[in-house]
This record gives sequence, structure tokens and C-alpha cells, in this order.
Amino acid sequence: MPKLKKCLFPAAGYGTRFLPATKAIPKEMLPVLTKPLLQYGVEEALSAGCEVMAIVTGRGKRAIEDHFDISYELEHQIKGTSKEHYLTEIRSIINSCTFTYTRQKEMKGLGHAILTGESLIGKEESFAVVLADDLCDNDEGKTVLYQMAEVHKRHPECCVVAIEEVPKDETDKYGVIAGEEIEEGLIKVSDMVEKPEPENAPSCYAIIGRYILLPEIFDILENTKPGKGGEIQITDALLELAKEGKVLAYKFQGRRFDCGSVEGFVKATNYFYERER
Ligand code: G1P
Repeated sequence: MPKLKKCLFPAAGYGTRFLPATKAIPKEMLPVLTKPLLQYGVEEALSAGCEVMAIVTGRGKRAIEDHFDISYELEHQIKGTSKEHYLTEIRSIINSCTFTYTRQKEMKGLGHAILTGESLIGKEESFAVVLADDLCDNDEGKTVLYQMAEVHKRHPECCVVAIEEVPKDETDKYGVIAGEEIEEGLIKVSDMVEKPEPENAPSCYAIIGRYILLPEIFDILENTKPGKGGEIQITDALLELAKEGKVLAYKFQGRRFDCGSVEGFVKATNYFYERER
């Protein structure tokens, strides 16, 4: 079985909840402590064995490309000084994987962003998707994507989505699944709904921003009609595969912060600050 080689990062959104900070800076570049959100995501993808980071960007996102590139001027300036170590981590990331980019021209939803990434991913093998504003941490050293890659290795015929139990009144913020637990922490998905009102939610298991997708998802996405909010939803495309028994939902070990909201972002900042002190 080929290993998971590529990870797709949809990163074209406007980040309106963080205006004015995101007026000229991509939201994926907002730092938790000194590291941009997207770098945490790339490190997680590396931990799962990915070698190609495929980033779907949009207008005004050039800082992302510059971040994952060598800055000769900066390197020259700090070489031999006490500050040199600040760049060690990012330099090692740049050396250990390849970054590819494409631009999403119109914002037509997460499904559309993933479909835009097809030119970077190809249709040969399964790939990961990381939404960088869901920041995940795991104390045991096994990252969420690593855990999911292990599940996919055992079930290569299935997509894997990460889930977390959320309060009933928050189901309208997430894709929500229902299904049957086939082993501890692993559910075979039979239904999934994008952002249901609590009274219509099939459960309280919310999908968080980590997916492992089979390449056939691209053909499905091409024919997926706009759903919730008039956008092309990955949840709707995955439902097609769920009906064939090809989607597993995995209750991950670890913590997840919703850094797409100011509150979650502050919680993540405090958590990582306390941990690193
Ligand atoms: C997207 C997905 C949703 C998922 C969520 C996880 O929503 O559409 O199904 O639960 O990511 O963060 P968004 O947060 O982009 O509105």
C-alpha cells in the first residue's frame, strides 16, 4: 500500500472574523506564539509522512509562499548570531518537503477549494486535507493526522474524517456524522449533514478539519451541487462515498482548538504558552 504522500491545505478564505488583522495578512499566517497556524499544519502533515504540501491559495496570500521559502537576506543577517536558532525549525521543514501552489479564483466553498487542488494532487492516490485553523495537539507525540494515517493504512478502501463530540447547540458550526461503531473510536459513517440545526443533527459528532480522502472524491466533487450556504460542500461529496460504506469517522486522541474564532485562538495561545514555558 503506498503511503500518504500529499497533503492539501485549503487556504484561500478571507478570514473576515479576524479583520482588520487579516486585511493584508492571510489568516493562515496568524501566529500562535511565534509560529503561523499553517506551519503547525505542515508539521502535522510531515509527522504523518507527507512529502508534498499542496496549498490552495487566493489573492493576497503571497506571504504563505514567502514563509515556506529561504530568505537569503535574513539568513545572512543572523548567521553566527544568537538568533540563528529561530530559523532552524522552518529551515528544516523547507528542506524536508516540496511546496506546490494553485489559486482558487472564486470562493465557492471547501468542496470547491479541494477540487481546485486536484491539479496538485492528481488522481493516483489517497491524500490528506488539513484545515489549518483547526489547530490540533497531542501530548503523546502521535499527531491527529498520524493517527488517521494509521487508520487509513488498516482500511485503505475508506476515507477517514476526524470527529469530536460537541455540545448539541453547536452542531450548526460543523459537518455532523452518524453511523455504527465498528471498533473502539472508529465509526462507519452512514449519514453526514453540513451544519445542521441542533434539532436536525443526526448526532453530536462533529467533523474537524482533518480528512484523508480517496482520489475518487474529485469526480464526485465535479458533480456536487451547491449545498449549505450555496457552497460546494465536501460533506455532501463524502456522503456519496458513505452510502457505499467508504467513510470512517475517527475519534482522535488529543486536543483541538478552533482558531477560526477569536476565542479559540486565544485559548490555543494560552495553552501553547503554558506548555512551552
Ligand atoms: C468546514 C466543513 C465542516 C467541518 C469544519 C471543520 O467548515 O465544511 O464540515 O466541520 O470545516 O472545521 P468551515 O469551518 O470551513 O465553515
